[in-house]
Amino acid sequence: MFTKNLSKSYKKIKEIDLKFNIFKKKCSVIEFGSNKSGWTQYILKKSKNILCIDKKIINKIICSSIKYIEIDMFNIFNILNFKKKFNVVVSDVCHNISGIKDLDSFEFIKIFNFFYLNIDKILLKKGNFIFKYFNKLITKKKIIKIKKYFKTVKNIKLKTSKKKSSEFFLICKKFK
Ligand SMILES: C[S@@+](CC[C@H](N)C(=O)[O-])C[C@H]1O[C@@H](n2cnc3c(N)ncnc32)[C@H](O)[C@@H]1O
Repeated sequence: MFTKNLSKSYKKIKEIDLKFNIFKKKCSVIEFGSNKSGWTQYILKKSKNILCIDKKIINKIICSSIKYIEIDMFNIFNILNFKKKFNVVVSDVCHNISGIKDLDSFEFIKIFNFFYLNIDKILLKKGNFIFKYFNKLITKKKIIKIKKYFKTVKNIKLKTSKKKSSEFFLICKKFK
């Protein structure tokens, strides 16, 4: 069911979890940008249930504890009221990079703002939030604004990311 490429994503989320202990036993998780299920494969081992959101879902893991919604994340509130919030919110969302910096930057800031403005509607108190972003497309100064919502916020580059990559992760723990 899974291709070799998936192991890259799997290793990344594993590296984050081993370092920061994100997924507590039996936690509930909402995963934005789940696509080929690389992250889902790892999270499944740690969580009670996962809700996977992506505008295009390629690989589904057939398992009673995983639900999939194929939708543009910006429309999620049209179909979900989040009566039940989640212990962990993760985002590996990335649009198709055009190479036009202003355009790509605009798209990434839109993704960040979605979480910045709505995290309280999705995440339970004391919950954790992981956000993938690219350094050149969104400034650290901007994303650090989210610091006020969490007990700790760390910006990290992973060992499992390519050395030249500008891929960074924001690790936000204990939502206030
Ligand atoms: C890097 S891939 C995710 C890979 C995935 N975490 C894995 O392990 O296989 C980024 C994903 O973000 C999704 N995406 C981009 N914009 C989106 C949007 N507005 N709504 C939902 N998903 C979106 C893309 O469809 C793509 O599947």
